[in-house]
Amino acid sequence: MMKSNGAKLSTLLVLYFFSVSSLANVSLASLKIGYYHSSCPHAEAIVRKAVNKAVSRNPGLGAGIVRMLFHDCFVRGCDASILLDSTPGNPAEKEHPANNPSLRGYEVIDEAKIELESVCPQTVSCSDIIAFAARDSAFMLGGIRYSVPAGRRDGRVSIKDEPTAHLPAFTSNARELEENFATKGLSLDEMVTLSGAHSIGISHCSSLSNRLYSFNSTHPQDPTMDPRLAQQLMKRCPRPSNSGADPIVPLDVVTPNRLDNMYYANLKNYRGLLTSDQTLWTSPATARMVRSNAIHGANWARNFASAMVKMGSIEVMTGMQGEIRKNCRVVN
Ligand code: HEM
Ligand SMILES: *[C@@H]1O[C@H](CO)[C@@H](O)[C@H](O)[C@H]1NC(C)=O
Repeated sequence: MMKSNGAKLSTLLVLYFFSVSSLANVSLASLKIGYYHSSCPHAEAIVRKAVNKAVSRNPGLGAGIVRMLFHDCFVRGCDASILLDSTPGNPAEKEHPANNPSLRGYEVIDEAKIELESVCPQTVSCSDIIAFAARDSAFMLGGIRYSVPAGRRDGRVSIKDEPTAHLPAFTSNARELEENFATKGLSLDEMVTLSGAHSIGISHCSSLSNRLYSFNSTHPQDPTMDPRLAQQLMKRCPRPSNSGADPIVPLDVVTPNRLDNMYYANLKNYRGLLTSDQTLWTSPATARMVRSNAIHGANWARNFASAMVKMGSIEVMTGMQGEIRKNCRVVN
């Protein structure tokens, strides 16, 4: 009796959790592909042009913009809160150590927005621009092609401390990453798939030097890092000093500017840079996904596109919620 009631209750709780979490996190239904078709027909082309220009000069900006979608959507949903500048007495998200000084690509969004304001004033949201620009970056760097449902509205709030509670730490293990992504409505599979973004771009040494010099009291170096990689990294990343210097290294040492499945092959060779990367191979729950992504590149790319669309719809505002900013750095 107790048991069956308990079972019923837990079934109900599971159902409730699913319906609430899918409603709260993912509003795919209210976003639409081709949203600006009549209100601003060249919207997506204008964003693409700005991204193509910037990324062909500096591929790192494409990496920055893919990461920008993640850092925007995990904090207050995809509302372009990441773009707001601090105001007196109100430091913004972009000042959080997860974003400052490493997050880049802001000027690319600005450039697209300025052009968009001149042809269709106050029509295209900054949050949609980020989602389009991340897609265009993924296409330029990885040939990954997908449509982006749009119709997001921009938020009016950005708070420096909030990323701490919402973005995963680079020291997280697979279980912690799973839990973090689950709070955003993303599955374990989607977490592993999206981590493949670490096949482009860079890391500051400060995000990995613990693995080289101060792993734990018995092992100065993380035994799950290929010792040859560790040796190379120690040359580029000297022991942290108080000089404040924080050099950078490519996240994917094999194909640093190509958004591809090489990331997973690197993990199998113990050549992931961050703890949060290597844990995907050393944890039984995710190892088989790493193995499969390392083999099936086209499959991974397709799943990556879907997961980017899903991440791009976390807690979005639509309709009359929020606003369409005139300048992505300030609320209207
Ligand atoms: C799974 C949890 C994740 C953690 C803990 C994490 C953490 C980090 C860290 C520490 C860096 C290096 C920052 C620096 O020191 O300069 C980085 C870079 C990067 N991350 Fe992640 N990340 C995660 C997931 C993601 C996701 C889901 C995406 C996008 C789909 C992403 C895209 C990127 C990109 C493209 C870079 C390179 C940025 C650049 O070169 O400017 N990351 N990430
Ligand atoms: C340090 O890490 C190694 C490798 O993961 C582990 O075997 C060892 O028990 C750890 N030592 C301490 C003191 O935590």
